[in-house]
Amino acid sequence: MLIRVRKSWEMPERLVTAEELVMNRRHLLRGAGALAIAGALAGCDNGSQTSQNGGAGGIQTSATPDPTASMYPFKRNPAYVVTDRAMTPETIVASYNNYYEFGVEKDDPIRNADRLPIRPWEISFEGMVEKSFKTDFDTLIKAMPLEERVYRHRCVETWAFVAPWSGFSMKALVDYAKPTPDAKYVVMKTWMNADVAPAQNMVWVPWPYTEGLTVDEARNELAFMVTGMYGKPLPKQNGAPLRLVTPWKYGFKSTKGIQRFIFTDQRPKTYWMALGPDEYGFWANVNPQVPHPRWSQATEEILGTGERVPTQLYNGYGAQVASLYTNLADERLFM
Ligand code: MTE
Repeated sequence: MLIRVRKSWEMPERLVTAEELVMNRRHLLRGAGALAIAGALAGCDNGSQTSQNGGAGGIQTSATPDPTASMYPFKRNPAYVVTDRAMTPETIVASYNNYYEFGVEKDDPIRNADRLPIRPWEISFEGMVEKSFKTDFDTLIKAMPLEERVYRHRCVETWAFVAPWSGFSMKALVDYAKPTPDAKYVVMKTWMNADVAPAQNMVWVPWPYTEGLTVDEARNELAFMVTGMYGKPLPKQNGAPLRLVTPWKYGFKSTKGIQRFIFTDQRPKTYWMALGPDEYGFWANVNPQVPHPRWSQATEEILGTGERVPTQLYNGYGAQVASLYTNLADERLFM
């Protein structure tokens, strides 16, 4: 049996990133938690091997055919293209990831996410909707207006890329859910499965990963539910089978592996707000002039180029989204 303990608390000091908030090494090494994590993450690697070997206990492997594969590629919508930068190579977007359920290093998701079973994939619509219901991902995708869009992506850690996402507008999803008029927010929650993501055994981390938008933001033309990228179904490390992309916001809003949509009139406390309320807020709109408390947001690195360029307000999408925030001057809109 392969037992390899990922030293997730041994993050290089140069990576002054959000990850510290999840698994701060000083915090962890002080307590018995260190042992628990070592065990948990060892289990994670062990499981990857199980999956590669054909799986045990019914875990789906990447060899399982994706029933939606023949639907791709979707027709590109010419209204959503990026003209000022080149497309980032697929290999980079698919291998440099944040998906903390699978570990804290950028290459952990591509190594570990294969263990996540994504069929069947039930999605629920709950809370302030005309009638709560559940649907299966393969049923949902057939009911949606499918298209491809090219968007800029900007992580709060200051890296950026350009990718072609396949999916459907979040507005179509909201219409499908039929929220009642008093619903103000839509909350998205990721799966829970500590068998494939032993990090979810860490009780001090506020799993499941939770994010939210106002219903107005969700209905904005740019909010996009993503099912694929580069003309194919989404890789698991990028959030298969269903994730959000909101290109004017920092990437942590883009919840991966969504299983629950909850409509509510209460602003949710998100995963990052719970972990670091002084550093992460609800809105998380990109702004070069509002630094993160620990680093500047003035510039960003375009992955694969080694180039740093100026960050753009709302990541360059101000024309489409600035009007959402005109009456919210008192809010912390940019963190
Ligand atoms: N969704 C879940 N469930 N778990 C996560 O850790 N990380 C977020 C977001 N969605 C995350 C998540 C962060 S911090 C970023 S920057 C983007 O996913 C990264 O998306 P990518 O790996 O496809 O580039």
